[in-house]
Amino acid sequence: MSEPKKLYIKTYGCQMNVYDSERMSETLGGQGYVETQSPDDADMILLNTCHIREKAAEKVYSELGRFKGLKAEKPDLKIGVAGCVAQAEGEEIMRRQPLVDLVVGPQSYHRLPEMEARTREGQKALDTDFPEEDKFEKLKNRPKAKRGPTAFLTVQEGCDKFCAFCVVPYTRGAEVSRPADRIIREAHDLVERGVREITLLGQNVNAYHGAGANGDMTLAGLIWELNKVDGLERIRFTTSHPNDMADDLIEAHGTCEKLMPYLHLPVQSGSDRILKRMNRSHTAESYLRLVERIRAARPDIMMSGDFIVGFPEETEEDFQATMDLVEQVKYGYAYSFKYSTRPGTPAAERPQVDPQAADDRLQRLQALITQHQREIQDAMVGRKVSVLFEKSGRLPGQMVGKSEYLHSVHVSEADVAVGELRDVRITGSGANSLAGTLI
Ligand code: 5AD
Ligand code: SF4
Repeated sequence: MSEPKKLYIKTYGCQMNVYDSERMSETLGGQGYVETQSPDDADMILLNTCHIREKAAEKVYSELGRFKGLKAEKPDLKIGVAGCVAQAEGEEIMRRQPLVDLVVGPQSYHRLPEMEARTREGQKALDTDFPEEDKFEKLKNRPKAKRGPTAFLTVQEGCDKFCAFCVVPYTRGAEVSRPADRIIREAHDLVERGVREITLLGQNVNAYHGAGANGDMTLAGLIWELNKVDGLERIRFTTSHPNDMADDLIEAHGTCEKLMPYLHLPVQSGSDRILKRMNRSHTAESYLRLVERIRAARPDIMMSGDFIVGFPEETEEDFQATMDLVEQVKYGYAYSFKYSTRPGTPAAERPQVDPQAADDRLQRLQALITQHQREIQDAMVGRKVSVLFEKSGRLPGQMVGKSEYLHSVHVSEADVAVGELRDVRITGSGANSLAGTLI
């Protein structure tokens, strides 16, 4: 038998890219590739890229530049760019960095084996189509090998919302939901391989409306189906849009036992003037009422969000409205970003905020979010949580897992195996994690 070829994949950006990288690696497994953790011994290097902010996109070019020496030493090494930079920049990538052999957009991953073969014949391969066929159906069946206790599962891709700052509708395309039966089948397969927690992924996951047995299914309907899967203990989903937070989904947070009490619900800004300019089609008030309804259904739910500061024309007053909203919601987790101009999006043409003012706002917002995170985390001390153990810790005998609220929990001298779900009493709160003892 010939030596397996080695594939090095580096993943940037969101969880969907993590899932896609896994599927690409499995598909190239059918071409005789095994994954390696080092680019130095790879026969193929694949960067799965992110285009959401300028910095993310620029990282790709600096990383590619670093492979020049490797490629000179190993002329047979193939270098590919996948993901959203591939989709957005296409051929331009090969022009800017001629060592690139292959450029593949997120909707064309099922064509990778054939593209890889073309590069082996010395050709360049480029595919940034939005093909009719369903890439997931055409991607090689997933292997049966055992794996860790948590997994991502993409159920929906693309977005029709067109927020004025965002490239996703252009790089991932129109909103498409996978049929429910395929998702459920994949969930069963994952559970057989040792998975106990599945995070359902979609750029606009709560807009899910995949074909089900009796017409289209909602995300809540899909979650209830997954709730029946024996051996699956936990269900999460991300990322949601406030306008698609349907009643049945809110209700499921109160009644579906495997659905975890955690919700990532980006608001982006607390100023109605800015929300309107962002094309968000909700207000600060409607968002706050929604959070109230969600908390009425599930009082202990951990809220998480995304924020952009320094969006074109944002004033200090607009920013204060964001700070007020954060004060009211008190997020357990939140991600905040300085606005980054994305060519081709409507906001790119508008008057920009002074970068120093934006930096200053970002710092103030992050300080407030961190303060709330700490308060919420510290308040966990003394409480009982359930922990799904994922790996051993740095100290001997220590095990690390996640609580239902997604806090990292470290347990010393824990007589538990990876994949076990156990009750834990929280005894301490550190910078980014909790400590506890088994009950
Ligand atoms: N600039 C800054 N942040 C952005 N996001 C999306 N587009 C931009 C942009 N142009 C943020 C949003 C989104 C998260 C994934 O990234 O907050 O929810
Ligand atoms: Fe981008 Fe999310 Fe807005 Fe869609 S809803 S355009 S993915 S920020």
